[in-house]
Amino acid sequence: MIDARGLARTFTTGHGTVEAVRGVDLAVAPGEIVGFLGPNGAGKTTTLRMLTTLLAPTAGTAAVAGCDLRGDPAGVRRRIGYVAQGGGTDPAVPAGEELDLQARLYGVPGRGERIAALCARLNLRGLEARPAGSLSGGQRRRLDIALGLVHRPPLLFLDEPTTGLDPQSRGDLWDHIRALREQDGTAVFLTTHYLDEADALCDRLLIIDGGRIVAEGTPAELKRRVAGDVLTLELADASGAEPARRALSPHPAVREATVTGRGVRLTVEDGEKALMSLIRALDGAGVELASLSLSRPTLDDVFRTVTGRSLRDAA
Ligand SMILES: Nc1ncnc2c1ncn2[C@@H]1O[C@H](COP(=O)(O)OP(=O)(O)OP(=O)(O)O)[C@@H](O)[C@H]1O
Ligand SMILES: [Mg+2]
Repeated sequence: MIDARGLARTFTTGHGTVEAVRGVDLAVAPGEIVGFLGPNGAGKTTTLRMLTTLLAPTAGTAAVAGCDLRGDPAGVRRRIGYVAQGGGTDPAVPAGEELDLQARLYGVPGRGERIAALCARLNLRGLEARPAGSLSGGQRRRLDIALGLVHRPPLLFLDEPTTGLDPQSRGDLWDHIRALREQDGTAVFLTTHYLDEADALCDRLLIIDGGRIVAEGTPAELKRRVAGDVLTLELADASGAEPARRALSPHPAVREATVTGRGVRLTVEDGEKALMSLIRALDGAGVELASLSLSRPTLDDVFRTVTGRSLRDAA
């Protein structure tokens, strides 16, 4: 569905040049949900705008939905749906009219039925007469997605689909996105800041930072490959933290050990197996433990391992 090589975009502004995207390779298969994760300014929207023909790449090539990005941009546009960050509806226009206009633009056959079916699927029934500006955030986002789907594209681009929504509406929207793939085999390429969203929704993730892809894989692979397990130790006495770190760092299973206040945070290969010998090493160093927890790494741990900063700090 997408095969991009060396995609790059530089912006020239009054204050100099910004290398927003610096050579991105990516591939999305039919029916796949791929997430593009990264902090503010990482280059997510710029990449999406290039792939959807809204912005010309400075360098690189891409085939999108079977059409060449540079050679056949109109072909690309006919075969994709794009939901922009922040949406694109006119607040004064009723939802049903927006949908009808979109269907006419694409020459959708049987557009009345198509719109009715989409409204049923995206929980928009009964809202057709309401101006988009009067809809709730979640309703408006569902309308944005319906607009992107009117012409039955096999590939849908979603830029930050759930930013600003409450947890309930986010969960609802996730269900709708999953249903797209299950019922129609639609491939989805979405950007997000949210680790939980990437984790819950995506088959595969690309992590972008500073215009470059810094890690790639399924959520489980990324967590396994990059971060190991996370072991958090709280010590009876804060003065034990540094001796504990020193005692545990040389352990063969420990990849990384950092002091955090009155505790130590360890990244450990195969945490459950290593646990007993780590506790013995602490004992041997005479450090008293107050509590301990072993957790699977989150995608934030992955991001931290790859870039040296937390996704939250980076944003
Ligand atoms: N039209 C433009 N002119 C100049 N600089 C731009 C332009 N568009 C984007 N940039 C810059 O390119 C970089 C990447 O921006 P982009 O919008 O792609 O980031 P993003 O990953 O989508 O971030 P966010 O999570 O905040 O949406 C930023 O430094 C941004 O300021
Ligand atoms: Mg963006």
